[in-house]
Amino acid sequence: MAIRNLLVISLLVCSLIGTSRGAGKEKLFTDLQHTLAVTAKPSRQGVLDPGKDKVSVTWRLNSTAAPGSDSDYKTVAVKLCYAPVSQVDRPWRKTSNELFKDKTCPHNIVSRPYDGTPQSFDWTIERDIPTASYFVRAYALDSKGEKAAYGQSTDASKSANLFSVQAISGRHASLDIASICFSVFSVVALFGFFANEKRKAKLEQSK
Ligand SMILES: *[C@@H]1O[C@H](CO)[C@@H](O)[C@H](O)[C@H]1NC(C)=O
Repeated sequence: MAIRNLLVISLLVCSLIGTSRGAGKEKLFTDLQHTLAVTAKPSRQGVLDPGKDKVSVTWRLNSTAAPGSDSDYKTVAVKLCYAPVSQVDRPWRKTSNELFKDKTCPHNIVSRPYDGTPQSFDWTIERDIPTASYFVRAYALDSKGEKAAYGQSTDASKSANLFSVQAISGRHASLDIASICFSVFSVVALFGFFANEKRKAKLEQSK
C-alpha cells in the first residue's frame, strides 16, 4: 500500500513539474499574432544567384489588425525561411511550433526598430545562402526581445510566392578547383618537357 501511494505521489509530482515547465516559458508559433503584412519581390524571375541578385522586402501592420495591437512592438526582425519542399529529409531545417526549437528561418535579413510605418529593405542574397526554395518572414519583438507577432511573404500552406536560390558553392567551386588544377598541371608538364629536352641536348653534346 505504502509503495503504491509513493508511486502515485511521485507520478503526480512529475506531471506537475512537466506541465509547469511546458507552460509559460516556451512560446508557440501559434500563439503569435498574425498582424504584419510582408512581401518579398525578387529582382528578376528564375533561379537567383547569391552575391548578385536581390530580394526587395516590405513590411507593415496589416490594415485589418486591431488598433493598438502593435503598441508593444519594439523591433522587427526579418528572416529568410526554408519552404517545405526544401525541408524534406533535413531535420536541421525542421519546423516546430515551439519557437525555441523552430529551424524554419535561420538566416537573418535585417532588424529594424518598429515605428508603425511601412518599411522596405533591398537585400542582396548573401553568398553563404544554400540552394533552396525560400520565403520571407518578419517577427515583431517586444521590449524583452520576445516574439509577439509575425507576417510572411507566402500563404499559410507556404506554397505561394516562393523563390529559389542556387548556391555558388558546390558544383561551381569544384569546377573552378578542377580547372585550376589542370592549368597548374599543364604549366608544370611544359617546364618538365623543356627541362628534359635541355638535359638530352647536354647529353648529346658531351658524347
Ligand atoms: C491581413 O489580415 C487578413 C485577416 O487576417 C488576411 O486575410 C489578409 O491576407 C492579411 N493581408 C496581408 C497582406 O497579409
